[in-house]
Amino acid sequence: MSKFCFVIHPLSLEDVVRYEPGARGKGQPIIAKILEWMPAYAAAHVVGVRTPDGRETEGWFVAAPLLPQQMLEFPRERVYERILKAIEIGVELGAEVAGLGAFTGVVGDGGVTIAERSPIPVTTGNSLTIAAGVRSLFRAANEMSIDAAGTTAVVVGATGSIGAACVELIAPRVAHVILVARNETRLRKFHERIREELPCTSSATTDIAEAVRRSDLVLTATTSTSEVIEPEDLRTGAVVCELSLPHDVSRRVAAERPDVLVVEGGNMRAPGDMHWWRVREPGTPFDMGLPQGTALACMSETMVLALENRCESYTLGRGIELAKVREIDALAERDGFSLADMRAFDLPITREHIARTRAAAEQRRAVSA
Ligand SMILES: NC(=O)c1ccc[n+]([C@@H]2O[C@H](COP(=O)([O-])OP(=O)(O)OC[C@H]3O[C@@H](n4cnc5c(N)ncnc54)[C@H](OP(=O)(O)O)[C@@H]3O)[C@@H](O)[C@H]2O)c1
Repeated sequence: MSKFCFVIHPLSLEDVVRYEPGARGKGQPIIAKILEWMPAYAAAHVVGVRTPDGRETEGWFVAAPLLPQQMLEFPRERVYERILKAIEIGVELGAEVAGLGAFTGVVGDGGVTIAERSPIPVTTGNSLTIAAGVRSLFRAANEMSIDAAGTTAVVVGATGSIGAACVELIAPRVAHVILVARNETRLRKFHERIREELPCTSSATTDIAEAVRRSDLVLTATTSTSEVIEPEDLRTGAVVCELSLPHDVSRRVAAERPDVLVVEGGNMRAPGDMHWWRVREPGTPFDMGLPQGTALACMSETMVLALENRCESYTLGRGIELAKVREIDALAERDGFSLADMRAFDLPITREHIARTRAAAEQRRAVSA
């Protein structure tokens, strides 16, 4: 089977400490300054990803160690250079296809320029992220006994690479879909282009709070570096599926809205006995804050391409074809990938948690009736 590399970067200071425990105790300005000049490096060796029919791949997480804000603010060429250096390190280790994690797949034109300059094919992994995100949203709705067909759903980040396809996949299963983004012109043009094709009614707005207040189902896929979903805006018993990395659902939701079910939408269980070993300290696990055996959907797409010997630039830029989303979803299923158990705010969601959430929603409805 082919081998892969996946470019990662820290999403927060906590991530920096996870990647580099020696950074603990250092202040944000010092860490940011160090990262500014820190070269790309091989962070983890990924082994044990094995399909039910015995195909196996291995790969490397290669860090392009910039924070999300730095990815957005630094001169684009400098960021591209860091990402390409990371891919080159992956190639030296044997990778034949590269995945772009989080903002490394967002910066600039969503991987198109990186793919043109890369020595191996590149994918953002967004096709499988879209499939996993939509599945996660409706799984959570099901857990809350919400009949999705009568609901209003909002996609926050609807003009994005992930969000636009999510709108199309969610629309056939709800009564109304609201599209949200900041750039009004792009949002209006996108909405005008697709509204006739959508099987449900739809609307578009730049007012997130107003859209969230009207929605039973919320999916976020933004590149915001701050929180955009606030507890006071959420409807009673709402379901929120968060695909954005870094997180964009306020951490206050966990404490202040026990009636709302929030799920991280892009986590998958990998087949086989997957382990991530630190490259610099062999035998020590590499911690990305995910449970053992779990990978992000974008990583999983890269692994599936390697397992399938499909070393091609599978997903790039905006305007992702639904046919590709369906194809990679089917390939992932065949290779033994499945949605990971539900999680939110870095914790697993237990049956008791869901029962408590449902009860809190019922109580809140009874009070407001
Ligand atoms: N969970 C996973 O496995 C996984 C995998 C890949 C990517 N991701 C994450 O998914 C997110 C989206 O990625 P993408 O490739 O779709 O990015 P993208 O193509 O750049 O789209 C981002 C979308 O978010 C909107 N947006 C940005 N800031 C916003 C804000 N403050 N409020 C409302 N909307 C905002 C943008 O529109 P405007 O600019 O008009 O606002 C656009 O619609 C990123 O956070 C990425 O890291 C997760």
